[in-house]
Amino acid sequence: MYREIAIISIIAVVVILFVVLPQMKKEPQELDLSLDKIIKLPEPSYDSNTSVEKALLNRRSVRTYSNESLTLAEVSQLLWAAQGVTDSEGHRTAPSAIALYPIELYVVIGNVDGIESGVYRYIPNEHALLKIIEGDRRDELSIAAGKQSHIKNAAVDIVFSVVYEKETEKFGERGKRYSILEVGHSAQNVYLQAESLNLGTVVVGSFNDGKVKKVTGMLDNQSPLYIMPVGKKK
Ligand SMILES: Cc1cc2nc3c(=O)[nH]c(=O)nc-3n(C[C@H](O)[C@H](O)[C@H](O)COP(=O)(O)O)c2cc1C
Repeated sequence: MYREIAIISIIAVVVILFVVLPQMKKEPQELDLSLDKIIKLPEPSYDSNTSVEKALLNRRSVRTYSNESLTLAEVSQLLWAAQGVTDSEGHRTAPSAIALYPIELYVVIGNVDGIESGVYRYIPNEHALLKIIEGDRRDELSIAAGKQSHIKNAAVDIVFSVVYEKETEKFGERGKRYSILEVGHSAQNVYLQAESLNLGTVVVGSFNDGKVKKVTGMLDNQSPLYIMPVGKKK
């Protein structure tokens, strides 16, 4: 009798440890878009005095910024360049393998007029921000990236993450490659848009993934790939 109870207990523990708990961990987390925290961004501009050629010619990685704040219009323009929706079918400014769009953008705001400091998610379909975390997290984000001071000194840090499953479910392992390539397209758009707005930025790929996830409140299934600090050029 005792032997049977012991065996059943061991089986129960094994099932909980290796079947139930891993499933609970994988439970996808949903974004509550019904929150009144959604902040509509100003309509982006579709024109400028900077040609694509000039933006390409002058693009440079910029790591020193003035203390001046950015406007919400500038933040709107940068996010639209990164992942804005550009037609009625939901296509975006950057290409995506069969339009699966695995990129999720987080915005660590510290010095932007008309919006409180905090961590926000960009919602492309609404061209809006959703607040995730209150307060200025630039310092902690900088620490998560080996104390790279440009992250702390920027007015805003755009954090690029991907949900690999969106593409691996369709393409297998190759979906990972596609997701990473897509972040490259999106980040280059931000470089060129920043140049056109006379703002400075740089792609940062050197950081501790776990720490960046924690600081930004990223979901379990999202992987950070780039941080782009943005500020006024000095
Ligand atoms: C994949 C990748 C990772 C990078 N990581 C960092 C980084 O962690 N920190 C940083 O300051 N610059 C980083 N950079 C920016 C490069 O240092 C920069 O692009 C290079 O010096 C060339 O200068 P340019 O962008 O002005 O042409 C990275 C660039 C790439 C493409």
